[in-house]
Amino acid sequence: MVDQYAVIGNPVAHSKSPMIHEAFARQTRQDMTYERVLAPLDGFADTIRDLIAKGYKGVNVTVPFKFEAFALCDFHTEQAKSAGAVNTISFTANGIYGNNTDGDGLIRDITRNLDTAISGKRVLLLGAGGAAEGVFQPLLAECPGLLVVANRTLQKAENVVSKSHHESRQAKATTFEGLKNQQFDIVINATSTGLTDTALPVPDTVFAEGCLAYDMMYGRETPFMKQARNHGAQVVDGLGMLVEQAAEAFAYWRGIRPETQPVIAMVRAL
Ligand code: ATR
Repeated sequence: MVDQYAVIGNPVAHSKSPMIHEAFARQTRQDMTYERVLAPLDGFADTIRDLIAKGYKGVNVTVPFKFEAFALCDFHTEQAKSAGAVNTISFTANGIYGNNTDGDGLIRDITRNLDTAISGKRVLLLGAGGAAEGVFQPLLAECPGLLVVANRTLQKAENVVSKSHHESRQAKATTFEGLKNQQFDIVINATSTGLTDTALPVPDTVFAEGCLAYDMMYGRETPFMKQARNHGAQVVDGLGMLVEQAAEAFAYWRGIRPETQPVIAMVRAL
């Protein structure tokens, strides 16, 4: 039987994961299928049980099930533990293994594809929801000189920073007002404001000369990206992260790491 994989979400129709994993499978000559599965909002666990019964090897998990996926797994990688969420699941005879490849995907896109070191840099992470939490520890592990988490709700930024596993003297939480008179070398938008075309109350002065402004959203120019571009930053969307997190998931399942550059170019050209 051909090895079967899927992405589970709600909604899931927009997901580019099948196209990306099919490209990886062609490139690395892996015999596998990958499809979209729409789970009812109250039916994630039942959907997983059904896929296991049908012999699936693994799944990717997307919004809004990443936390439920964490709770369902029997074993967790360090990446899943530090994110408190799971985006990649492997079904084995020993049980359900949960991983999280979002953070590594972001780090690989910034450090390799964009050739930008994080070590020693002043990094600003905007947002303190699930997306920000998933990348906070991996960013800190790169040893930035400073990592500031800014959020509308200060308490949530403080929660993210307080969960730090690393020496966290360089990690700080603030409100957007607290960013006045501060400059950063890398600014990452992990809020969901791009979805609603909402501008963030971030001072224009946060973008230091030569700053990299990274929006974890892809497929549209967000107000954050416009603001950063208007203030001289190098602006990038999250498409590279999307493909890199998929490559990490593919490697986790198949034990072989695909080339990401041609796949990023393919998705970008659509
Ligand atoms: P996700 O899984 O995409 O991270 P989430 O967990 O709901 O979604 O988090 C959304 C993030 O976007 C939060 O940081 C949220 O700020 P609050 O914690 O204060 O709610 C942020 N966000 C959403 N709408 C926003 C807005 N209009 N202005 C500023 N921040 C906003």
